[in-house]
Amino acid sequence: MNWFSRSALACLTATFATVALAAGDPAAGKAKAAVCAACHGANGISAAPIWPNLAGQKEEYLAKQLKAFRDGTRSEPSMSPMAANLSDQDIADLAAYFSSLSPCP
Ligand code: HEC
Repeated sequence: MNWFSRSALACLTATFATVALAAGDPAAGKAKAAVCAACHGANGISAAPIWPNLAGQKEEYLAKQLKAFRDGTRSEPSMSPMAANLSDQDIADLAAYFSSLSPCP
């Protein structure tokens, strides 16, 4: 395999990986985010130093972290239970919602 066909294959694989992501709906995410506000703030800006801001964070990163909490590869006593029952669609919607918010308080 020459260099060109190998890089073309890498692009193809990347395209499929993107298409495979569930599309998040920010409006649906907003409705599901009411419970998150207690710690992460009504606008995704938290009031306490141990709670991370979520507003404006990268969508794929948020989805990856929520899946990690749900699947147990990332664990934290107050956050893990919040993700335990989220579906892939819930996660996509929540990630779309928080990434759409302004990171400025
Ligand atoms: C009881 C408080 C609490 C609630 C409610 C809560 N979280 Fe969290 N969340 C945390 C804490 C604490 C962390 C930091 C975990 C750590 O230190 O590893 C965190 C981390 C996160 C992270 C990772 C952020 C990063 O920068 O890596 C995401 C994403 C997240 N929460 C999303 C949510 C969503 C979505 C909800 C609502 C479904 C929610 N959280 C509800 C306490 C909470």
